[in-house]
Amino acid sequence: MSGPDERELLLVGVGIMGRPYVAAARRLGLRVRGVESQDWAAGIEGLVDAVEPSQGQYGSLDELWAQTAHDAALRSRPAGIFGFTECHVLGAALAQETHGLPGPSLGAAVISRNKALQRGRFRAHGIGQPDHLLTNDLSEAAEWAKARLPVVIKPLSSAGSDGVELVTDAAAFDAAAVRRASERPLLVETAVEGPEYSWEALVRDGEVWFANLTAKTTTGAPHFVELEHRAAVSLPPAEAAQVAELGRSVIAAIGMRTGIVHLEFRMTSSGPSVMEVAVRTPGDYIMELCSLAYGMDWFELVLRLVVGDELPPPPEGPVKFSASLFVVSDPGEVIAVDGLDEVRAHPAVVDAAAKVRVGDTVQRAYSSLQRTGYAVLAADSREELEEAIGFVRRTLSIKTVPVATEE
Ligand SMILES: Nc1ncnc2c1ncn2[C@@H]1O[C@H](COP(=O)(O)OP(=O)(O)OP(=O)(O)O)[C@@H](O)[C@H]1O
Ligand SMILES: [Mg+2]
Repeated sequence: MSGPDERELLLVGVGIMGRPYVAAARRLGLRVRGVESQDWAAGIEGLVDAVEPSQGQYGSLDELWAQTAHDAALRSRPAGIFGFTECHVLGAALAQETHGLPGPSLGAAVISRNKALQRGRFRAHGIGQPDHLLTNDLSEAAEWAKARLPVVIKPLSSAGSDGVELVTDAAAFDAAAVRRASERPLLVETAVEGPEYSWEALVRDGEVWFANLTAKTTTGAPHFVELEHRAAVSLPPAEAAQVAELGRSVIAAIGMRTGIVHLEFRMTSSGPSVMEVAVRTPGDYIMELCSLAYGMDWFELVLRLVVGDELPPPPEGPVKFSASLFVVSDPGEVIAVDGLDEVRAHPAVVDAAAKVRVGDTVQRAYSSLQRTGYAVLAADSREELEEAIGFVRRTLSIKTVPVATEE
């Protein structure tokens, strides 16, 4: 048990994405107890003060993560509990609730984990969103869907665009109904059009302390794999006001209390339409982008909220313009990874890497997992940022050749 002068953070899941939280905890003088998947536990031993191995696995088995978090919290009486990724949100929220510690709230965590519950709440609160139908049997949704094409079919609680599919005609819907007959439940939604954004807010007791707007581009239909994020973008005043109002309404609708929220929406001709909300850390380096853009470590700000520490004055605006971009390669065998050294040498490039090596096989990109490389950039002006993005796009090349067995 940690003494009063030795506060402990219970970090549910460390992996790779949790490491900046460990570093931030150290700066705040917190001991770190890491709940970690059994397979990864040995890898974090030197990094944290105590390891709690869990049978949970990344991307699934929320219940097992929750059990380990619960047991650990009972023994260690932490000053704060935090889970940063989808499968940790529920366990962390349960434990926060049990120990009366700050967090998004159990209700917000449950809703965050389930897109159908989100749709229900947003409807009740008059929040813009696609028309939708929850079904246990896609074939039974055919009539509804065919009257509203194009539609998007999606699972209730996946991430990384996995299983998210745009269907544009009746025959394709019937084919999806056959192919996905064993998947249930599923959401069918009208496909809304408009540029995509995410809104990341640091929230304390239900009030927005600071929010960032990120513009996003994807591969588009059918699988919408994310390609670029630009942080600290600004909209014309009328639209900016709509977004601020949207953020407040969503926080109220899901009953979020304290932590970080990541809201995804499209700006349609009739205002914002919500794709989904999550009371967790955004992926795709958006935290790093926010930290770069506002000159403040967002991981540390989140932990301050989680342990109830004071916050500094909020940033007045961006001090840099930042972006992350991802490479999607054609399916096949990787024959060349070129340009990485030049890209890393560029003054606006903060970080860049390839996720594959020559000889690896790349699958068709149907989710974020199949992306083959990335870069994180920051520049003093939007123009310089765009120039640097162009440079990285031209220079970083991950080439593949089709493999005979590919379709
Ligand atoms: N109803 C819709 N209309 C238009 N586009 C949609 C719709 N639903 C989903 N999309 C597109 O698919 C993407 C992924 O959908 P969603 O966010 O619901 O799934 P996800 O698996 O949680 O994705 P991620 O983890 O990548 O955010 C969205 O960002 C958007 O580009
Ligand atoms: Mg999403």
